[in-house]
Amino acid sequence: MIVKMFNLERDHEEIKKDLLRIFEGVMSDGEFILGKEVRALEEAFASYNKVRYAIGVSNGTDAIRIGGLALDLKAGDKFVTTPNTYVASAMALSIHGLIPIFCDIEYETYNMDPERLEEVLKKEEGVKLCIPVHLYGHPCRMDEIMNICNRYGVKIMEDACQAHGALYKDKKVGSFGDVAAFSFYPTKNLGCYGDGGIIVTNSEEAYRKAIMLRNYGQTDKHVHTIEGFNSRLDEIQAAFLRHKLDHLDHWNERRRHNAWFYRKELEDTPLTLPAEAPWARHVYHLYVVRSKERDSLRQHLSDNGISTLIHYPTPIHLQGAYAGLGYKEGSFARAEEAAKEIISLPMYPTLKQDEILHVCRCIGDFYGL
Ligand SMILES: Cc1ncc(COP(=O)(O)O)c(C=O)c1O
Repeated sequence: MIVKMFNLERDHEEIKKDLLRIFEGVMSDGEFILGKEVRALEEAFASYNKVRYAIGVSNGTDAIRIGGLALDLKAGDKFVTTPNTYVASAMALSIHGLIPIFCDIEYETYNMDPERLEEVLKKEEGVKLCIPVHLYGHPCRMDEIMNICNRYGVKIMEDACQAHGALYKDKKVGSFGDVAAFSFYPTKNLGCYGDGGIIVTNSEEAYRKAIMLRNYGQTDKHVHTIEGFNSRLDEIQAAFLRHKLDHLDHWNERRRHNAWFYRKELEDTPLTLPAEAPWARHVYHLYVVRSKERDSLRQHLSDNGISTLIHYPTPIHLQGAYAGLGYKEGSFARAEEAAKEIISLPMYPTLKQDEILHVCRCIGDFYGL
């Protein structure tokens, strides 16, 4: 049996007819950039997350950079994030001359450890922004993080690129920070058919600035009030996404069911399984387990037709791009240890029970169970 890591063809099958109809509709409307579809998606996504504003952009990386610039951050300002996230969480702003500072993670959820955050903010002067990443779909400890950031006068941008629909104490992630960034990369819980992203915020000021930044700093046709980019979400992607948004909750439910089934089957293996804090609704963008024998386990699964991935093999502070920051091996022990042991098992809404069983049986064989 072959089990893919993702299976977009299968996930999309149930909505294929709707998408083709939507495609025809946008084609015959003849409006492709910043029109009614983008506006409708922005409204729907803001309302889904219970925030005032949403701004569609070209991808999740741009959502982070425009989100940060909309909060008036500038070159030389420091921001703090975790080192075990996708490199974009740092690179989106470091490319503009902002300086990334890293903070180690908590063992259970792989997310920012509030205690470590406080230590970092005590030590480092001039940190203007904190980027908690709701990694793999599990929310960060927002109360503690917000409390600490308030005390140190640090703004918050949530990186919710992997966590569409996740809840922290019954409230959607993305609705806590000054701004939040989401990605619509195709494999995300809500993904489009190419690149896409969105910023959400309750701040009218950040909203106004982000609207300008995504479209050459424009306030009116041919009036460029500030410098900006071309970072617009396409009409066609917005139309697809608005349709898919209606399915997000039940797709997340299926992911949660798959996670439940994995847990039931893997409970007696030596693997460390993903945690779900009592205050959290995890949306399992990824199902990440941990093993001391990660590389040989991965090979064994591959030999049995099962694809897996590692999110992420090299923490950001050890990437060549950030060699100049002066971090070294050992700077963030928990993130580094996790990078050596984590493995992402197949996870998507249409993953079947017999496929999960196959994965779990192969893991059982590997451990001689
Ligand atoms: C945590 C995180 N941040 C940022 C990004 C960047 O999003 P995109 O690939 O849409 O630019 C991603 C997705 O790849 C991500 O997983």
